[in-house]
Amino acid sequence: MRTLVIVAHPNIATSRVNSSWLNSLVNEKKFKIKNLIELYPNYAFDIDQEQQDLSEAERIILQFPLFWYSCPAILKKWMDDVFTPGFAYARHGDKLKGKELMLCISVGAPEDGYRATGFNNFTLDELLRPFQQTANYIKARFLPPFIFYQSVFATDEQIADSTRAMVNHVTGACEPPSITYEKLLLSAEAMNIALVS
Ligand SMILES: Cc1cc2nc3c(=O)[nH]c(=O)nc-3n(C[C@H](O)[C@H](O)[C@H](O)COP(=O)(O)O)c2cc1C
Repeated sequence: MRTLVIVAHPNIATSRVNSSWLNSLVNEKKFKIKNLIELYPNYAFDIDQEQQDLSEAERIILQFPLFWYSCPAILKKWMDDVFTPGFAYARHGDKLKGKELMLCISVGAPEDGYRATGFNNFTLDELLRPFQQTANYIKARFLPPFIFYQSVFATDEQIADSTRAMVNHVTGACEPPSITYEKLLLSAEAMNIALVS
């Protein structure tokens, strides 16, 4: 599996979580890794190069800290500039079709805050809809994201654990959920339970 990791942290020098993930991915030596702020401190992307790297990848990882319930500006601009018509969408824009897209995100607040009635009101699944729909629009397959909550309060040990879990997630099979509605109906039938549909 050819995996491309786009690391989008505007201040990786002060990062605890994303820098740990980045170092560990580099040590694995099996990923193509692009640290955007190092390559493009002025956010002036080499669009041809970025598109070529994307074209060669089978799985694309977008790694970033959650900033204002979304991605940092450097990743938003990268997407705006690189996902062009004719490349990612519109006429002949099928170069990302069928590729896997995965988000790996560090989130400052605890998971408990991200739900209805929690202080952030919405789940991460809800807040990440624009990324999911972007994947749909470019005909990529949106994989389950890796989310590390409470990143700003994490101990070194928790960060080390998150790093191992993140690398596993990035390399994992990421099959679609095993429970389909059809399977649910079959089990219900076997158990003689009537489901209202
Ligand atoms: C500009 C900015 C915006 C942030 N917005 C959020 C946010 O919306 N939700 C949240 O839970 N954490 C937020 N945070 C906290 C970051 O997600 C947190 O600092 C980051 O995940 C830590 O990762 P790092 O150690 O790699 O920097 C924000 C931090 C900054 C600097």
